[in-house]
Amino acid sequence: MKDMQDAGCVVYFAPEYPPLRLPRGVNLSEHLTIENSPVLFGCRTGICGTCRSNVEALNGGRLDSPSEDEISLLSIICPGNPAARLACQINITADVKITPLRKDEYGL
Ligand code: FES
Repeated sequence: MKDMQDAGCVVYFAPEYPPLRLPRGVNLSEHLTIENSPVLFGCRTGICGTCRSNVEALNGGRLDSPSEDEISLLSIICPGNPAARLACQINITADVKITPLRKDEYGL
């Protein structure tokens, strides 16, 4: 019954993409597409780094912490960027703002 009352979470992007409301707990890579978001995906398993993005939880919400594998990859492809996440590894548990990282923003 609680799930029926949950309004889900909202994902905000750059202005040219309208916000998306998704069910709480779903994996972003299962719902974001090239048509509805600026986030690009490759492997969708946390290996390639294509989906690297700055991810900010909004409205006091929290996301699950990244796994050791995600932390390890981000330390290589986005060193020194504490906001970087692999979008494909996020199960959404809060409203978020997602900004894909361009190549010149990788931190390398
Ligand atoms: S799509 Fe490959 S790491 Fe996310």
